[in-house]
Amino acid sequence: MNAIFTGRKRSGKTTLAFDIAMRNGGGIIIYDPKREWRGWPGQVSDVSEIEQKIKEGNEVIVLHPDGDKREAFSPLARLVSELHRIAMDKGWDKAQHHFTLLVDEAVNVSTAKWVDEELLSLIAENRPEILDIFLTFQSPKDANNLLKSRVDTWFIFNTSLPSDLDYLNREVGVPQQDLEKIQHLREHEYAHFEFDGGTPRVTYNYEPEAWFRPLEYFELNKNEREEIMSRDSDDKEYTLKELFEEFLDFFEEKKSRRSSRDRDDDRDDRSRDRGGRREKTYKIQGY
Ligand SMILES: Nc1ncnc2c1ncn2[C@@H]1O[C@H](COP(=O)(O)OP(=O)(O)O)[C@@H](O)[C@H]1O
Ligand SMILES: [Mg+2]
Repeated sequence: MNAIFTGRKRSGKTTLAFDIAMRNGGGIIIYDPKREWRGWPGQVSDVSEIEQKIKEGNEVIVLHPDGDKREAFSPLARLVSELHRIAMDKGWDKAQHHFTLLVDEAVNVSTAKWVDEELLSLIAENRPEILDIFLTFQSPKDANNLLKSRVDTWFIFNTSLPSDLDYLNREVGVPQQDLEKIQHLREHEYAHFEFDGGTPRVTYNYEPEAWFRPLEYFELNKNEREEIMSRDSDDKEYTLKELFEEFLDFFEEKKSRRSSRDRDDDRDDRSRDRGGRREKTYKIQGY
């Protein structure tokens, strides 16, 4: 699923997004501009270091971007996009393998007036069976329209700002009666909306203790993660590491094929398609 987590500062957006990603199993790639996840062995400050971290077997990758936060995002989205393509080729959609991209403080990559193009192309293409994209926003208004139209799931914590409530109602489709409840949610309580065209489905979660976990790397997170992953690997063949190895092989192959000028190969056609798709640009309507 593509999901947005919204609510005021310190309501629990980041914690909930992480908890759901952890429970989902698979790999997790986190864009963490606020440096909330600490001490994880899979922590990097540049996208180029991710390869090594995955090779070492880390299933949780945390990017603490150095320098410009916006600029640091695009290469990450490109990497995730390539992993997604390889996973498609490998038939992960049928095999029920998947991974999660968690974009914390997504205001760095999306506002009402601007959105990172790589993120947009990723969210336009991603198969929910393979890749979940989670975005956290303090204000729902920062979810760019083009992004918002690809998101079917919203986790909404207490919201009281009239302009935010109005936005949730008119632009997201939260019914009036739920706005009332959302204004009265207590600390760490949230509403979970699923929009799939018809009447939205909503459930309320009033049990914060059921999903709380610290963001720091610590024994419980580590042990639980190992337990989830070993449960997964009973019937699932691939891990993020294996996916990444396929990804590297793919580039190696492409390189050697280019040098040998071996053209009549259908993978070449596909890689041409890929290149084409990457160049696609998006016009943001109304701007
Ligand atoms: N379910 C919860 N139960 C108890 N404390 C929580 C829960 N979720 C988050 N917290 C705590 O509240 C604070 C803010 O959580 P965080 O996820 O960072 O919020 P946000 O991303 O909305 O700013 C943190 O100290 C966190 O540990
Ligand atoms: Mg947060």
